[in-house]
Amino acid sequence: MESLHRDVDKRALRRFLRHQRRALSQHEQRLAAQRLCKQLKSLPEIRRARRLSLYLPVNGEIDPTPLLPWLRQRNVDIYLPVLCPFSANRLWFVAYRPDTPMVKNRFGIWEPDVRFSAQRRNRLPTWALDTLIVPLVGFDANANRMGMGGGFYDRSLAFMHRPGPSPTLIGVAHACQQVASLPVEPWDVPLQVVVSDQDCFRRQ
Ligand SMILES: Nc1ncnc2c1ncn2[C@@H]1O[C@H](COP(=O)(O)OP(=O)(O)O)[C@@H](O)[C@H]1O
Ligand SMILES: [Mg+2]
Repeated sequence: MESLHRDVDKRALRRFLRHQRRALSQHEQRLAAQRLCKQLKSLPEIRRARRLSLYLPVNGEIDPTPLLPWLRQRNVDIYLPVLCPFSANRLWFVAYRPDTPMVKNRFGIWEPDVRFSAQRRNRLPTWALDTLIVPLVGFDANANRMGMGGGFYDRSLAFMHRPGPSPTLIGVAHACQQVASLPVEPWDVPLQVVVSDQDCFRRQ
């Protein structure tokens, strides 16, 4: 019963927070993206990244792509999440270069087109990424993350619950997506840090 209430609360909170970020104007979005990227560029975890994944924003998500020219200048290998064609709610990470053929997935998000087998060779095992920039719907000051509710990142990063090589996870969001505290589930994979257009919170 308690977990039922929690699911209902989580759904309502997701709806509220998604509404908040969609309500931002284009100008506010652009300004937030610039401020976010300025902070990201000074973060040690980003400055030492050699193989980094980010995302193309939808539904009012904060836009991390102003970082792309800077990353390319630094010869960082850039990857994007792709819906895994074989197993549900799981992500692949595929190289994203200026000439990468792209296609819209079932959520309307552009991703590298892995229908070509040549493209599949540009996939990197997730453990081999050193840094992931992860979108989120809500966060708190202890860097806890609430996602879209599909558990895509939790499933794809579940290997991080076991010892072995694992990437640094950096959540990014608008400041208006912060809440006082979030419930943490056993399957949630913790972030090291959350960066917004105004703040930076590290996991204690
Ligand atoms: N490693 C995993 N293996 C299987 N199912 C998972 C895993 N991680 C998360 N899930 C499932 O995904 C669903 C959504 O997870 P949740 O953490 O609530 O969403 P989000 O992280 O998107 O906010 C949960 O019902 C959970 O059972
Ligand atoms: Mg989760």
